[in-house]
Amino acid sequence: MCGVVGKQLLLPAALPSLRALDGKRTSLVAANAALLRLPGWGMDGVHSNDAGSEAKILIPFCQLETKRLLLRQLREDDLPHSVKMLDNKRLVEYMNGIPHPYTMDDANWYLNDRRQKTQKGEVCLWAICLRDSNLAPGTSTYIGNIEVNDIDTENSRGNVGYWIAESQWNNGYASEALAAVFTYVFGNTSIHKLTAYYTTKNVGSGKVMEKCGMKREGLLKQHEKRHGAFLDVALYGILRSEWAARQNQAKGKY
Ligand SMILES: CC(C)(COP(=O)(O)OP(=O)(O)OC[C@H]1O[C@@H](n2cnc3c(N)ncnc32)[C@H](O)[C@@H]1OP(=O)(O)O)[C@@H](O)C(=O)NCCC(=O)NCCS
Repeated sequence: MCGVVGKQLLLPAALPSLRALDGKRTSLVAANAALLRLPGWGMDGVHSNDAGSEAKILIPFCQLETKRLLLRQLREDDLPHSVKMLDNKRLVEYMNGIPHPYTMDDANWYLNDRRQKTQKGEVCLWAICLRDSNLAPGTSTYIGNIEVNDIDTENSRGNVGYWIAESQWNNGYASEALAAVFTYVFGNTSIHKLTAYYTTKNVGSGKVMEKCGMKREGLLKQHEKRHGAFLDVALYGILRSEWAARQNQAKGKY
């Protein structure tokens, strides 16, 4: 599933469909190596949680690498940075459940909540980092999060959510991260479908979904309340077969 080279986990296959995102080949480096078992993270589909009961892990965590990004585990030392980025009204305007102002307590709550949900197989979360060539080797700048949440084992389904620091918007990073997650999830797990939602005023988020091949499946009218107004929410989805078809199409082109 998830290969390891030295300490770096890499996706098992290079996928040309990602080229379309920035016109260049996005490298998801191939590695033929032993499966990795991370302490606390199930890699074989079944994981014992703290309570001793077994949770089915449909999406085991795997560190991912693209041409410009490293998608790694969120760590405690990231939290002060996440507070700086998320304590921003413009960023959280269309995000569900992110308080403003955003504090260290909120960041700690989030990390603990996601750790618990990860143990139960409900969430798979990545910290999005720039593989910055100006930094020392092995270091990277943390710029956002991406997660598959509401993982539904019975229906082999999950929902994606993401954010990027405002200083880094419109560089293609959210699209690159989302495509990497699709590549990993559809290429390495039994997930059949991924969904995503955005309030229709959040045009940039809709573009990210469309650039990554998601299709609009419906409109939830006046579904979310923001600043006293009820906003429409668009529902997007992508099937494993649709992602595979995009890959095949891209292979034919390049
Ligand atoms: C939505 C968000 C994740 C996009 O991240 P990003 O890294 O800037 O996304 P990308 O650069 O990959 O793509 C954004 C696309 O939307 C376009 N866009 C952004 N704002 C736009 C607007 N107001 N109108 C039209 N297009 C817009 C960009 O031009 C780009 O398209 P292009 O590549 O064709 O030029 C980021 O703005 C964000 O974190 N917002 C706050 C949190 C949030 O809304 N999360 C999603 C919840 S559903």
